[in-house]
Amino acid sequence: MATLTTPQTNFSAEPAENELFKNLREFLELQHLYSAAIREIQTKLEILNEDFNVRFARNPIHHIESRLKSSASILKKLKKKGCEISIESARKNLNDIAGIRVVCCYIDDVYDVADMLLRQSDIHLVKVQDYIKNPNYNGYRSLHLDLSIPVFLSESTEQVTVEVQIRTVAMDFWASLEHDLRYKSDKNIPADICKAMLESAAAIADIDVRMQEIYREIQKLE
Ligand code: GTP
Ligand code: MG
Repeated sequence: MATLTTPQTNFSAEPAENELFKNLREFLELQHLYSAAIREIQTKLEILNEDFNVRFARNPIHHIESRLKSSASILKKLKKKGCEISIESARKNLNDIAGIRVVCCYIDDVYDVADMLLRQSDIHLVKVQDYIKNPNYNGYRSLHLDLSIPVFLSESTEQVTVEVQIRTVAMDFWASLEHDLRYKSDKNIPADICKAMLESAAAIADIDVRMQEIYREIQKLE
């Protein structure tokens, strides 16, 4: 007869270790895959910027930033979305494991860069969110493209989704400060401050349009 002290199961440490190593390996593979996709798109953007310079003697891209989502953020977002917690689920449900931010000089450049990327035959558009034509409730402006790109590995070809945020220097100025203010504050932001942020975004957007007009006027000069 079984006593209370008899172990109900006989786990050896090995399967648990194997599971841990399997998970670690899969996560490293995920990081490798998404960082390769970032490099592919970043190279495409650099080539486009150089080509634009050769043809038109100017760079539409001011600078590029990129980041891989951390394991903690992946876990948090999967939980928030109510998705299964697995590498497969992360690949299926999250479009922003790999993120690239392209900061352009003028508004026209944002759309030119987007068109140049979308014309490339290996890039497939998954989703577009145009927060320039339709700004977010708080005044946030940016063009978001979720792009799928093939990554050629030693034994397979994987389609990988990358979130590309394209915006002007002016839009980036507002978004960076808003992000900083929002994350530094754990308080509920009062309505008058939200209104001030919205008005600031509108004022910056007006200046963005004016700078674009000035650029066009200068282009027309002999
Ligand atoms: P998820 O990608 O699943 O979160 O949903 P979504 O595609 O609707 O998200 P969205 O494309 O709107 O936002 C993705 C990213 O855009 C965020 O992680 C931020 O980097 C940026 N973003 C969106 N809204 C804001 C905003 O109001 N302020 C700032 N500073 N950044 C924003
Ligand atoms: Mg998005």
